[in-house]
Amino acid sequence: MAKVLVVGGAGYIGSHVVKELLENGFETVVYDNMSTGQEVNLFAEAGFIRADILDTAALDKAMAQNIDVVIHLAGKKAVGESMENPALYAQNNLCGSINILNAMLANGVKHMVFSSSASVYGTPQYLPIDENHPLNPISFYGYTKAAVEEYMSWYATLKDFNYIALRYFNAVGYAADKSITGREKNPQNLLPIIMETASGKRDSFSIFGSDYDTPDGTCGRDYIHVSDLATAHVLAVKKLLADKKSYVLNLGTGKPTSVQEVLTAAENVVGRRIHHHYAPRRAGDPAVIYANAKRAEEVLGWKPRYTNIEEIIKTTWNLEI
Ligand SMILES: NC(=O)c1ccc[n+]([C@@H]2O[C@H](COP(=O)([O-])OP(=O)(O)OC[C@H]3O[C@@H](n4cnc5c(N)ncnc54)[C@H](O)[C@@H]3O)[C@@H](O)[C@H]2O)c1
Repeated sequence: MAKVLVVGGAGYIGSHVVKELLENGFETVVYDNMSTGQEVNLFAEAGFIRADILDTAALDKAMAQNIDVVIHLAGKKAVGESMENPALYAQNNLCGSINILNAMLANGVKHMVFSSSASVYGTPQYLPIDENHPLNPISFYGYTKAAVEEYMSWYATLKDFNYIALRYFNAVGYAADKSITGREKNPQNLLPIIMETASGKRDSFSIFGSDYDTPDGTCGRDYIHVSDLATAHVLAVKKLLADKKSYVLNLGTGKPTSVQEVLTAAENVVGRRIHHHYAPRRAGDPAVIYANAKRAEEVLGWKPRYTNIEEIIKTTWNLEI
């Protein structure tokens, strides 16, 4: 079986990817500096290297261990922080990714699956968004994702290297078997914030804007379950090893769910009202964004299993009760 190095494998999405790789029989090694990764997310069956992607010697040593494929999920991901501290994002997301690519080339590692993001598209020019939609990021975070995609494209042109960039929409949920218990700390995303409010960690949460041109006036997003994302990564690893071509693929459900719908579904799951208040729109928030993910289906044979928002929320709430 191939050997996969999962950079950022102790994090939220990375730990679900490691679980799926192990279940598919891949030899798996996690490389993580534990800045947001958690010890409880590490699997005993996987190797572990505690190191930073800014440490080129450590990367070189890791890549020299007969790695077949790298899955690169290590990145800073707070959009607001990226606008206040672009240097931090340039160093971690850009320099760190270049370090990984260079260590791969130096050690003959030819395949990479990369965590990209729907934020590369910016404000939608049409919906649903397919991979041909122009890239026009409106945050520095989104810019770093688009830039790493470009580096990978150049390396694929110039060297014996190929990649699959996975553009995730909004990752949500946890493994339904509760095998991953390390919940995100200081979440910035809607669903974990709603869950923290429901469990009493927060008093209330804000709904930013209720006057959008949408059926209920709140923003619509494409919520994709983390276990479905994990499945796509394993299929991407298999695809890279099989046909050695590069692809860029959206990963989403193909339908928007509004903030109000998420709230109502969460209240149904927890069985009580969840405190919230209405606040003005945030700058840069598009009314609705959702994916056309047909290419991932064609290329990988991937389809999300979780399409019902209540089912998705249950996998998160199950960890609270
Ligand atoms: N969560 C989402 O909805 C979402 C959506 C689109 C894209 N992404 C991307 O997916 C990837 C994983 O996201 P996540 O939600 O699991 O975040 P996360 O913060 O839980 O995971 C990131 C992991 O990378 C590690 N890491 C960060 N910087 C590192 C460094 N310099 N050296 C070594 N390890 C480092 C962290 O310790 C952590 O374990 C990120 O690149 C993120 O930008 C996430």
